[in-house]
Amino acid sequence: MNPLNHVAIIMDGNGRWGIKHHNSRNKGHKAGLKTVETVIKISIEKKIPFLTLFAFSTENWKRPKTEVNALFNLLENFLKKKIEVFKKNKIKLIIIGEKKFPKKLNKLLKDSEKKTKNNSKLQINLALNYGSKKEIVNAIKLLNKKKLNINEKNISNNLYTKNIPDPDLLIRTGDTNRLSNFLLWQISYSEIFFSKKLWPDFKAEDFIKILNKYKFIKRNFGKIL
Ligand code: IPE
Ligand code: IPE
Ligand code: MG
Repeated sequence: MNPLNHVAIIMDGNGRWGIKHHNSRNKGHKAGLKTVETVIKISIEKKIPFLTLFAFSTENWKRPKTEVNALFNLLENFLKKKIEVFKKNKIKLIIIGEKKFPKKLNKLLKDSEKKTKNNSKLQINLALNYGSKKEIVNAIKLLNKKKLNINEKNISNNLYTKNIPDPDLLIRTGDTNRLSNFLLWQISYSEIFFSKKLWPDFKAEDFIKILNKYKFIKRNFGKIL
């Protein structure tokens, strides 16, 4: 059975769900938060040490300002509400991506990281203003600055995800089969599952089904097994 240390998820399909059910993309984003709670709960139950959630990409700034603001408001309320739950459940939260948001949100993100930094049951890496290409360029700039050799280990150690094992499993919901600039370096050997379900429709049993399938995949890593 394959060990499972890290699950990464591209939570896609909120907008379409919102339009379909309430004629409002933002209502879809709100509904998606329920699924976030579900996958966190199951990750704890299944003793998965790392969960990475893609919440806002560097490209998502191209959306209308009203939607971007609505997303930030939702995130702010979610974090304010959940931080005590995170503390109680020994969840550590870190942000991967560039913390370049309105001042109030930046502060809340930093505070949330600080308040949970000693927790160790589940680490949630929230990908916010995250772009994989930017992350790689940034890592190479850091190597230059630190006068370090350019090699795989040094690049890995200078990504936002330093100290986090590469994802074993990548899931994208929303019936879209692409990576959208997410963890391009880190997923070189991840098992990838695309779900047709929109994120708010993705339920505990959908997640568990994928986890169970993953367990029995023959992972070759280039060898003949
Ligand atoms: C994913 O859902 C959440 C974010 C990108 C913030 P979308 O908003 O992309 O939903 P669809 O793909 O338009 O349905
Ligand atoms: C990817 O979804 C980003 C997040 C889930 C946060 P998008 O909906 O932004 O991806 P594209 O634009 O369809 O590739
Ligand atoms: Mg989308």
